[in-house]
Amino acid sequence: MSDDLLGVHYDGSRPWRTVLRLYRRRRGRLLVAAIAFAFKHSPVWVMPVLTAEVIDIVVQRRPLERLWLAAGLMALVIVQNLPVAVLYVRQLSISIRSVETSLRMALCRRLQELSIGYHRRVSAGVLQAKIVRDVENVVESTRQTFDSGMAAVTTLVGALALTAVRVPEFLPVFGLAVPASAALVVAMRRRMVTRNAEFRTEVERLSARVSEMTHLVPVTRAHAVEERELDRMGFTLTGVREAGMRLDVVNGWFGALAWITLQLLSVACLVGAAWVAWTGVFEVSPGDVVMLSSYFVALTGSVTQLMTLAPVVTKGLESIRSMGEVLTDDDLERNEGKRSVHEVAGAITFERVGFAYADAPGRQVVADLSLAVEPGETVALVGASGSGKSTVLNMVIGFLQPQQGRILLDGVDMSTLDLRGYRQHLAVVPQESLLFEGSVRDNVTYGRTDITDDALVAALVGANALAFVEEIGGLDALVGERGASLSGGQRQRIAIARALVRDPSVLVLDEATSALDAESERLVQEALGRLMRGRTTLVVAHRLSTIRGADRIVVMAGGRVVETGRHADLVAAGGHYAEIARISAGPR
Ligand SMILES: Nc1ncnc2c1ncn2[C@@H]1O[C@H](COP(=O)(O)OP(=O)(O)OP(=O)(O)O)[C@@H](O)[C@H]1O
Ligand SMILES: [Mg+2]
Repeated sequence: MSDDLLGVHYDGSRPWRTVLRLYRRRRGRLLVAAIAFAFKHSPVWVMPVLTAEVIDIVVQRRPLERLWLAAGLMALVIVQNLPVAVLYVRQLSISIRSVETSLRMALCRRLQELSIGYHRRVSAGVLQAKIVRDVENVVESTRQTFDSGMAAVTTLVGALALTAVRVPEFLPVFGLAVPASAALVVAMRRRMVTRNAEFRTEVERLSARVSEMTHLVPVTRAHAVEERELDRMGFTLTGVREAGMRLDVVNGWFGALAWITLQLLSVACLVGAAWVAWTGVFEVSPGDVVMLSSYFVALTGSVTQLMTLAPVVTKGLESIRSMGEVLTDDDLERNEGKRSVHEVAGAITFERVGFAYADAPGRQVVADLSLAVEPGETVALVGASGSGKSTVLNMVIGFLQPQQGRILLDGVDMSTLDLRGYRQHLAVVPQESLLFEGSVRDNVTYGRTDITDDALVAALVGANALAFVEEIGGLDALVGERGASLSGGQRQRIAIARALVRDPSVLVLDEATSALDAESERLVQEALGRLMRGRTTLVVAHRLSTIRGADRIVVMAGGRVVETGRHADLVAAGGHYAEIARISAGPR
């Protein structure tokens, strides 16, 4: 599948071109679909001619055989509709569904490539709306455009051709319908584009709010602030309603204007025809009159249909633009073409590293940080909340890149490395362990297929998790969505097992601040001890026991390193650390 291709060529600011590109690879099928459609649709423009023929047979008392011939042709034209309609639907559906699939795949692929910063910035609900709703809009609008567009074009061409043969004098009158409707579309387009863009933004906001609200339900319930949440939701919904109404009004105006234009044109046509007949400029048979009036109806019908497409098309183009926001965002984690990493000894060196978040560029969250971590060493980061500890860890994972200075992995600048190789030797145990719906086995082996049951059990033993795993039903027991059926301490131990099973050279640990009961605490602590042994470990430590066990303690304040050393030395020095240690030792 050439979904990468889609990502490279996608141009959200030129939606028309993008649509054509999307469908270009399916042009063979679309051509077959178009031909099948022309046949399927032929009754619309063939029947009036045959009807005219029948009327003239009656009025002019032509031979009866011609009636049977006309009847046979009519039946044929009608019956051929079935096989070609099936062929048409199949070919169109295959093309459209494959575009749909590759669009969704391309979006998901791009989400996997976008930086962690991007994902922190953009709500999951918005992204969800793009993958589900926008793709559907594009697909539906191309389907409708193809359907109505083909219908209008074949009716137009067929009617014009047959009129040219039978009553060529009427051609210019039909010809008027096209420029008139084109002028209307051009006049209304700008307003429709704006209204669609506003509506789309409101729907994305709604989607983000819904996903936030559903995540917050337990917190909301526990604080009895349901009404306030609903008020906030009501506010968002009002936004959607207003934008939706403005969109509907524009579309309504457009529909009414289109109808009026075409009806006036029809009237003009009829009056013109009547005038021609009355003054006797040329000869018109009764059959021709019937045929012409059927064509009037068919033509105005299909042009109206084509014009009512304008809102659908505008919506589709807006969705293309919306997907473009993801597909062409270049906040990517770039790994392609960088040096690949096969082995990691685990030396991590910070060289005068500085960092500020994009939304507060002036504020150095990490400033002038220099630190050399030896392979196998455990370094504990301590410091007040907000002092920049998690930011440092995120730089070690490669989620954030230093803006000043550099970070070296085994002596090589990390910005020159393909981080995917490095991360196969890295394990992260975050503050809040993220589990997903699935079995214990799935959650521990996550993404690794080469792990035997023995290794899995060993990891669970190491994580002090085997006992409770057996209690809940063994390796294949399900943990519920986000591990909902486990306790906090149990989730942490599953996350520790996940890290252990990977046997990483570098370990990044953000110790949970939430207090566990003494027994869980001991089990988690023991498991962590086993996990850290022999690996380069950077740990944000809150527990005194973790801190004491570290080879080195780095004390941070306001993004800077203020002290480093071992526990006893730092306590003796009587600085920041001595204060922290005194406070945290207090209540325990
Ligand atoms: N995504 C972000 N965008 C902007 N500012 C951020 C972001 N994440 C953190 N910060 C800011 O950067 C500073 C350092 O945050 P960081 O998460 O590194 O602190 P921390 O030392 O880990 O704190 P804690 O002990 O509470 O986890 C904080 O002042 C915080 O407000
Ligand atoms: Mg933190």
